Amino acid sequence: MATAAHGATVGIRPAAAADGEVLAEIAREAYGKYLGLVDEPPAPLLLDYREVAASGRCHVAVSDDGTLGMVTVETPEGGDPYLVLRNLAVRPSCQGRGIGRKLVALVEEMARSAGLRGVRLWTRVEMVDNIAFYQGLRYEVTHTERNEHSHRVFLRKEIA
Ligand SMILES: CC(C)(COP(=O)(O)OP(=O)(O)OC[C@H]1O[C@@H](n2cnc3c(N)ncnc32)[C@H](O)[C@@H]1OP(=O)(O)O)[C@@H](O)C(=O)NCCC(=O)NCCS
Repeated sequence: MATAAHGATVGIRPAAAADGEVLAEIAREAYGKYLGLVDEPPAPLLLDYREVAASGRCHVAVSDDGTLGMVTVETPEGGDPYLVLRNLAVRPSCQGRGIGRKLVALVEEMARSAGLRGVRLWTRVEMVDNIAFYQGLRYEVTHTERNEHSHRVFLRKEIA
């Protein structure tokens, strides 16, 4: 898979253990805008990215300019027929160039290859940009859930 960003070709590859530091940097850049919008730091800012990078569940978007974005999936458990998309982030300087769309397409392809019904994810109601982004990619809101810490919106896409 390749696309062009800043004139450079962008590819996607599985993350490797050595990517931990750059993943943490991308998370800080991409999710930094939410500090102040929500009461506590977004969950992706609290992850151990050495673990994420080595998990075998993370892919990175790369070009000659370096590592530009990432996406992590969670394997469904207990007969859940949807692959869970977690932690999608693109460096702010590279957003709006199709990298996020490409990373989501990869996750959908993974779900399809695994014979799953689709992809699901959640975000926070305060993150209205995210909801619009996923709806633009034909994800539908299934429900919302509020607890003492957060108010989440759940989205899903059937890929059959
Ligand atoms: C959400 C995010 C990953 C999108 O990445 P991106 O590379 O900028 O997205 P793309 O360029 O692939 O955009 C794909 C489509 O979504 C649209 N889109 C992008 N951001 C959007 C937004 N905030 N609202 C509505 N549509 C949006 C684009 O216009 C594009 O549509 P088009 O192809 O018809 O023009 C990126 O903005 C990001 O990293 N945000 C911060 C971290 C975050 O919130 N991650 C999601 C956690 S659930």
